[in-house]
Amino acid sequence: CRIRHYKFNVVMRNRTRLCATKPIVTVNGRFPGPTLYAREDDTVLLNVVNHVSYNITIHWHGVRQLRTGWADGPAYITQCPIQPGQSFIYNFTLTGQRGTLLWHAHILWLRATVHGAIVILPKRGVPYPFPAPHKEIVVILGEWWKSDVEAVINEALNSGLAPNVSDAHTINGHPGTFSTCSSNGSTGEFTLHVQNGKTYLLRIINAALNEDLFFKIAGHQLTVVEVDASYTKPFKTNTLLITPGQTTNVLLTADQGSGKYLVAVSPFMDSPIPIDNFTATATLHYSGTLATSTTTLTNPPPQNSTQIASNFIDSLVSLNSKNYPANVPLTIDHSLLFTVGIGVNPCSTCINGSRVVADINNVSFVMPTISLLQAHFFNISGVFTDDFPGNPPIPFNYTGNPPTNMQTMNGTRLYRLAYNTTVQIVLQDLGFIAPESHPIHLHGFNFFQVGRGLGNFDPMEDPKIFNLVDPIERNTIGVPTGGWTAIRFRADNPGVWFLHCHFEVHTTWGLKMAFVVDNVIKSAERERKVRNESGSKNA
Ligand code: C2O
Repeated sequence: CRIRHYKFNVVMRNRTRLCATKPIVTVNGRFPGPTLYAREDDTVLLNVVNHVSYNITIHWHGVRQLRTGWADGPAYITQCPIQPGQSFIYNFTLTGQRGTLLWHAHILWLRATVHGAIVILPKRGVPYPFPAPHKEIVVILGEWWKSDVEAVINEALNSGLAPNVSDAHTINGHPGTFSTCSSNGSTGEFTLHVQNGKTYLLRIINAALNEDLFFKIAGHQLTVVEVDASYTKPFKTNTLLITPGQTTNVLLTADQGSGKYLVAVSPFMDSPIPIDNFTATATLHYSGTLATSTTTLTNPPPQNSTQIASNFIDSLVSLNSKNYPANVPLTIDHSLLFTVGIGVNPCSTCINGSRVVADINNVSFVMPTISLLQAHFFNISGVFTDDFPGNPPIPFNYTGNPPTNMQTMNGTRLYRLAYNTTVQIVLQDLGFIAPESHPIHLHGFNFFQVGRGLGNFDPMEDPKIFNLVDPIERNTIGVPTGGWTAIRFRADNPGVWFLHCHFEVHTTWGLKMAFVVDNVIKSAERERKVRNESGSKNA
């Protein structure tokens, strides 16, 4: 293995989209940012230098960070922000990982423009478990606001209302031809150049802040081979669904001879009311085809195509081969039920006298002012408590109407796990205020999605049909609107690990918590203490 050296200069740049120019925060002046290339088991030494007036940190989304929690990146969770004029070296090893991941800023809403791909190739001489592609192409999906992104969220926080949706979606930084004012306002459109008869590996990343996205190419089927840097059993589909933070690798065979074909990216939302209809476009262009020839179009799925979304999710299973086994934990040490949702709290200065908040088990997470990992490592008291509730505080019918409890309490509460224990979390959506799914991301681990359903999770019946053989392995999972998702993982990575909704607006509102995973020695000490205490009580 090698050491890969990178330098990320965080600098302002002007960009013109939708007929308007604005300064944005970038890495090395690029939007989307540069791709981080490495191979499995390589070490990355990456120097981030902050030349802008914002504080910044960078997160390596999906990198396991085995025993390198200090390099994970979420501000105030594992590190203090890199201040203007300062720099920070991220040092981590890509142990046992290969595939597509993403890096992004992990402070405020800066990841709107500060993001890029991580491409981890297999070890030298190790082939893919699918036919070798002719070429590999990174495709990053994003969002664009005409106004300043930080202003958008600050305005929402002051009013207590939801922030404005973005003005366009983007494919590799461009909204494409369907957006208002793209003909003269956009600086072009992304073109996917192909040669007839060849197969391409598309590494598709959803780097949007707040939108689940559909991805479609006119006249072509896509073969899914990997998600979140885990190989899948290959399957063919017309439409992909990718939530923010997720990645999907597909094989695309250019078998149409010639021509131009539309690539369409559009939002998925359960809401019957169209909130955000924008379709981003790119063009698949067969070499030798005249630029003036007409493009074969495709209709993006309607915004509330729940059926297309669940068909896609239900088709995903792990490859689970001899070389890539799915090591699903079969016994559970910690069985947790987390309600995830949006609520309202009173707010005298807000427009409606209330403020939209978000929570897990009614706890709306409050960010600390020094990093949690630091507090944990140096035993600094008063920064967090380790009493995060493993179950919702009041039993109620989550999908009931009217809801019995929408108010939240604030807290910087963590859930403590002993080293190497196994965890099951049932993530139950509340769906109180608006029908919205929640792409939940866990730092520091991959997990298996063992089950998924609508309505209330039934602890007696639902586990009977869990898939414990080849469930999909990922780092970000969509919790369906008015439904639940069950995940399992092994706590084999000591540190402090963030769990949150990857819709940035929900994270901002408090839909986040963290696990503290003790190391081997601490876990043993704690066990001894618990045993002694219960021993003296019994005596
Ligand atoms: Cu991709 Cu905590 O984030």
